[in-house]
Amino acid sequence: MTSPIAKRKPKAKAAARPKAKRKAAAGPKATAKTGLYAELVTQLRSLLKDEYDFIANAANFSSLLYHSLPDVNWVGFYFLHEQELVLGPFQGKPACVRIPLGKGVCGVAAAQCETIIVPNVHEFPGHIACDPSSNSEIVVPMFDGERLLGVLDLDSTSTGRFDDQDAEGLNELVTILAAHEEGLDD
Ligand code: SME
Repeated sequence: MTSPIAKRKPKAKAAARPKAKRKAAAGPKATAKTGLYAELVTQLRSLLKDEYDFIANAANFSSLLYHSLPDVNWVGFYFLHEQELVLGPFQGKPACVRIPLGKGVCGVAAAQCETIIVPNVHEFPGHIACDPSSNSEIVVPMFDGERLLGVLDLDSTSTGRFDDQDAEGLNELVTILAAHEEGLDD
């Protein structure tokens, strides 16, 4: 089935993000972060090996990130079901189950098929607060080819926790998960 919103736009969009903060992310910290994501790619491939149950793999994916990435309080998936996002495997506090397309950070990222980085969720119009202690967020769409499968969502209690390095690393990880589901990486 072809979705009218299934147009891939791979570039990260930093919502309301000052340029100065972008530059600050390109220091030694960014290098350490790149190394961490490279290690996560290796660990994810190992977790996925010989297992093709998508829900099980998505559950292990969210656990891997939740326990490996510093300073995150929620990691999980929302899957696209008939034009709304429905909660999938996650780690963190219980969350809202259904998000309409175009609503909240997840719904906007899904509708626009773009990664969205929100340095301060309290400044994002229509942000849906599942865990009141969350202050920043990143949402990464996941595709099966050109078709939108859903989004990966990460929250942090720190303001400005996520940057372009996270966007790049998380996009690589969800691409591996989606491709594994299709058996494209064999
Ligand atoms: N904050 C998200 C809702 C999902 S929770 O963060 C887990 C949003 O605005 O879409």
